[in-house]
This record gives sequence, C-alpha cells and structure tokens, in this order.
Amino acid sequence: MQFSRPILVTGGAGFIGSHLVRLLVNKYPTYRIINLDKLTYAGNLENLRDVEEAHNYLFVKGDIVDHELVRQLFEEHGLDTVVHLAAESHVDRSIDNPMAFIQTNIVGTVSLLNAARAAWEAPEGKLFYHVSTDEVYGSLGETGFFTEKTPYDPRSPYSASKASSDHLVRAYYHTYGLPVVISNCSNNYGPYQFPEKLIPLMINNIRHSKPLPVYGDGSNVRDWLWVEDHARAIDLILHRGRLGETYNIGGDNEWRNIDLVRSLCRVMDELLDRPAGTSEQLITFVKDRPGHDQRYAIDAGKLKAELGWEPSVQAEEGLRKTAAWYLSHTDWLDHVTSGAYQDYYRLHYEAGAKGL
Ligand code: NAD
Ligand code: TYD
Repeated sequence: MQFSRPILVTGGAGFIGSHLVRLLVNKYPTYRIINLDKLTYAGNLENLRDVEEAHNYLFVKGDIVDHELVRQLFEEHGLDTVVHLAAESHVDRSIDNPMAFIQTNIVGTVSLLNAARAAWEAPEGKLFYHVSTDEVYGSLGETGFFTEKTPYDPRSPYSASKASSDHLVRAYYHTYGLPVVISNCSNNYGPYQFPEKLIPLMINNIRHSKPLPVYGDGSNVRDWLWVEDHARAIDLILHRGRLGETYNIGGDNEWRNIDLVRSLCRVMDELLDRPAGTSEQLITFVKDRPGHDQRYAIDAGKLKAELGWEPSVQAEEGLRKTAAWYLSHTDWLDHVTSGAYQDYYRLHYEAGAKGL
C-alpha cells in the first residue's frame, strides 16, 4: 500500500507517545506511523498491544542518539513528518543522573534535527514537531499563568534539558529554515503512566497499603491534563499549527498536591471498598525535592482560539477514571514495577533518601 504520509513518532512506547500512536494509527489509516523507541524502563510495548498488528504501524527499537539509524529511517521511509516525544522525563531521576537527560533530550534531539535537515531539501510538506513541557518556564507564585511569551527559566536538570532542546529546535527554524512547531504542555495523567509519577505512584501505593510520600508540605500546585486531551491537541497542531510557532497546552485543572492526594485517597477507598479515611492515613510528608517548583499553570488561550481545542476531562472525574483504569490493569502495574523499579523505589522511598 502507498501511504499518504510517513510519520516518525519518537518515544511512542511511553506514556503520552502510546496514546498519540493509538490515535494516529486508528484515525489516519492512510498514514504510516513509525514508532522509534529505545524501550527504556519507561517504554513498554504492552502499551500498544491493540494497534501492533495494524497495517499502517511499524515499531523500530532504537536510540534517537544513534544518528546513523535515524538517517536510515529517513531514507528508507521517505519521512516527511517527525513528532518527537522520546525523552528522559522524570524530574527526580534527572536530579540523580543528569547526564542521561543531556544525552537523550539534547543530543538525541539534535540527532533528529540533523537527519531532518539533511533529508529535507525543501520545507514544503515537511514538519518537525517537538513535544515539550511547561517546566521550561520555571515556577509561578500564587497567581498568573505561563503563556507562550513567558521567558524560559528552567530549574531542574530535566527542565533545563528540555529548554535546551526547545532552543535548538527554534534555532534550526531560524538558521536553516527547518519547518518546526513546538508545544509545551502541563502535567499529564491517565492510563499507562509509569508509576514513578505522582498519580500512578500514589494509586499503586494505596493498593499495597504503602506510605504515600508527599514532598515538603504538599502545597505545590500542578495543572493536570488528561492524556487523551493532550494527544488530541497534538493531532490538531500537527495538522493546523503554524510553522515556527509555540502552543501551550494545559488542563485548566490546578490542584495542590496534598488536595489531589487526599481526593485520590477518597476515590480509592470507594473503589477498593475500604472504610472511608483508610488511605488518607497512609499520607506521609517527606523531605522536599531539591529545587521543587512551587506552581505550574498554563494559559492555553492561543491553542483554544486558533485551533478550537478544549480539555474534556476535569478534576475528580479524571482521577476516578485513572484510578479505575489502574485497578483494572494490575497485571500491567505489576509488570512495570518488577525488576529495576524495585531498586529505584528502595533507593528513593525505603532507604530514607526522601526522609521516610
Ligand atoms: P515517558 O517517560 O513515559 O516515555 C518516554 C519514551 O521515550 C519511552 O518509551 C522511552 O523508552 C523513550 N526513550 C527514552 N530515551 C530514548 C532514546 N534515547 N531513544 C529512543 N527512545 C527513547 O514520557 P512521557 O511522559 O510520555 O513524555 C513524552 C514527552 O512529553 C517527553 O518529551 C516529555 O518531556 C513531554 N512531556 C511530558 C509531560 C508529562 O506530564 N508526562 C508533560 C509535558 C511534556
Ligand atoms: P511528578 O509527577 O514527578 O511531576 P513533575 O515533577 O514533572 O511536576 O510530580 C508532580 C508533583 O508531585 C510535584 O510537585 C512533585 C510531587 N510529588 C510528591 O509529592 N511525591 C512523589 O512521590 C512524587 C513522585 C511527586
């Protein structure tokens, strides 16, 4: 079959990438979706079982830093679009080991940019879409929102590496005329998120009646976005975003961490048929994350006005859907938390590294 649009999705076996791959494979049967993923601890082909046999889907195991591999993929498939999600994505891990973040998030991005630049003689019909985070903007006080014009002020090795990659993508637009678009998104949640991030970690710990480690006093605020709403936004920007532009994506769904964890405890008590208040007793305040950003909140007005996007899932409803999904996929949870995850968990939460 002749495909109308060969798209390279990087990091498609991860949390957000797997939702995006599923959306693109199902919605655009004439596109070819090529998923390049190294399958780190965060990548899991189980996330894509339902599309792995699709005629328009291809999985390639490999590292975006491997420039020769990336170059070959451009040549072999005549790629005209890259949607770049592959990254080291967890702030706590970036504090432990910044170098892995520099390699994948910065060097890996340049490896892809160079391959696109070499393959694409003219920009017509081509697109390099870079998926990034609102963490590049730094930390907000009690009021205000990040807009596309907010100056960059990253504070963790993770956000600094993502900021660097954003700057490089923009540099390739201005210097070489590479057709690019960037989106910066708030915290995602939903099915298939690796249980080192706040929401699935808490769900898994409640399930096992383990302590719920809340960093600092729990007053930090995040703006939570349902992952399928993010995938829909990427789909819109991929098709209708203006070249060289940035789009902020957020859920209009701000929570203080402690309020979110308490709410999740209530939902889990109901779903697990435990007496009300059982899970809340597991909440344990632990030593704060170094350089912990106080508040993130996104103004997604540009995306809403230009492309008509709106978040569809809010507040408690999203937590309930998420908790129910994990409880009906305990085999997935058990699989991804076996092996190396045990070492990570012990190092952070049991050996006292987080003050437990
Ligand atoms: P994730 O950690 O769940 O998945 C990352 C994927 O990238 C994994 O499948 C992993 O195997 C793959 N990968 C890592 N290094 C690679 C390499 N060198 N070569 C090829 N593949 C590699 O991450 P996520 O939460 O799905 O985030 C995806 C993207 O979205 C990232 O770029 C992240 O910065 C961005 N983002 C995430 C959030 C969030 O809340 N999760 C919010 C905003 C932006
Ligand atoms: P996280 O899911 O790691 O996302 P990010 O740091 O990229 O925003 O953390 C979300 C918030 O939850 C953040 O303020 C840190 C906090 N947090 C805890 O309080 N305890 C935990 O065990 C984790 C993983 C995060």
